[in-house]
Amino acid sequence: MSEKIEFTEDRLKKVEEIIGRYPADRKKSALLPVLHLAQEQYGWVSSATMDYVAGLLDLQPVEVYEVATFYTMFHLEPVGKHVIEYCRTGPCSTMGGEDVYDHLKQKLGIKSNETTSDGLFTLKEVECLAACGWGPCFQIREKYYMHLDNQKIDEIIEDLSK
Ligand code: FES
Repeated sequence: MSEKIEFTEDRLKKVEEIIGRYPADRKKSALLPVLHLAQEQYGWVSSATMDYVAGLLDLQPVEVYEVATFYTMFHLEPVGKHVIEYCRTGPCSTMGGEDVYDHLKQKLGIKSNETTSDGLFTLKEVECLAACGWGPCFQIREKYYMHLDNQKIDEIIEDLSK
């Protein structure tokens, strides 16, 4: 049986606050922040979660699917505790990003879009993180890890594995 999807009381209050920022006939404007709340609670956004969000905002489920599947920041499958979003765009690549990326994959023992068997790390390839001058870089949630090299990768992964 699938998990019942229901926001915590705090998150439901937050949804009301977010909806209140927009005109009454523009509830859809609250969709992105409400999807972020959903991902914060469940770690990913399932189709059941999207249906739930559609109900909260008086939308058709397809309107939520369209948005959630467009933005790469929404995880549409279960992910590990730490989602590493590694920049694969040119400027980072030319600063050694490809070699560092190979090292990271080897260190984790996974490829892009995979999760380590201990559930700690999911690896994702993303486009420019707007930190081109500080590459190679990756992001985990709001935190940036910059000027990466193989040694830093080892230190970061070991630190996050504790
Ligand atoms: S190219 Fe990597 S942050 Fe812009």
